[in-house]
Amino acid sequence: MRLSVNIDHVATLRNARGGHFPSPVEAARLCMAAGADGITMHLREDRRHVRDADVLGVRAEVPTRLNFEMAATEEMVGFALALRPEACCIVPEKRQELTTEGGLDVLRAGPFLGQSIQRMAAAGIEVSVFVEADAAQIQACRALGAQAIELHTGAYADAAPAERPALLARLALGAQAARAAGLHCHAGHGLAFDTVGAIAAMPEMEEVSIGHFLISQSVFTGLPAAIAEMRRLIAAART
Ligand code: PXP
Repeated sequence: MRLSVNIDHVATLRNARGGHFPSPVEAARLCMAAGADGITMHLREDRRHVRDADVLGVRAEVPTRLNFEMAATEEMVGFALALRPEACCIVPEKRQELTTEGGLDVLRAGPFLGQSIQRMAAAGIEVSVFVEADAAQIQACRALGAQAIELHTGAYADAAPAERPALLARLALGAQAARAAGLHCHAGHGLAFDTVGAIAAMPEMEEVSIGHFLISQSVFTGLPAAIAEMRRLIAAART
C-alpha cells in the first residue's frame, strides 16, 4: 500500500514568514528519501499554502508519484494538463473552509465534472475523486470515467474512539463498493498514528494520503522518523 505525503503545510509554515524556508521542494525530496511512495499537493484557488511554483518545482526536481489535488475548475484542469502528474484527486473547495470538509457530491455535480475527469484521463493522468463512503457516489465516479476514488476519512479520524467502529464499517463498505465498481481505492483526511492501521487493514486500500499530522509530528521527531513510523504502522496492519 502506498503512502502519499501531503506537503501543503510545509508551505503554510513557509508562508507564515513570507520567505523561502522551509521549502516544499526540499520537503518532497526528504519525504521520498524517507520512504514515502508519493507526494500530494493541493493547489487551492486562493493559493493559501502551496503555490504554482511549488508544484512545478516538485514536478521538475523530485522523482515521485505526484498526486495533484484540485477543484474541478477550468483553471485547475488547465494546470493539471500542463503539469502531467501521475495522478490527480478532484476535491470540493470552498473559500471559507479551513480544510476540505467532505467528499464531492458527484451525483449532483454538473457536466463539467465528467468533462474534467475525461480530459485528464485522456492525457494519461489517473483521476480519482474525493468522496464519502456511499455506494451511489462511488458508482457515479466510475460512470464519469474516474479510475479511482479517495474515501474521506475525516469523520472517522476526528470521532471519539467509541464512535469509530461504525464509521469504519461504513468506510469498509465504501472500499468494497469501489472494488466492485472496478475503481482503485485510496483514503485520506485527518489520519494519524492511531487511526491509520484500521484503514490500512482494509484489503482494497491501495493508498493513503496524509498531511497535517505527519508535518506536525515532524516538528517533534523530524520528517524521516515520522514517515518511518507511519510506514511501520501501515505494514503491521497489512500483515
Ligand atoms: N485527502 C484530501 C482529498 C485532502 O483534501 C486532504 C487535505 O488537504 C488530505 C487527504 C490530507 O488530509 P490531512 O492533512 O488531514 O492528512
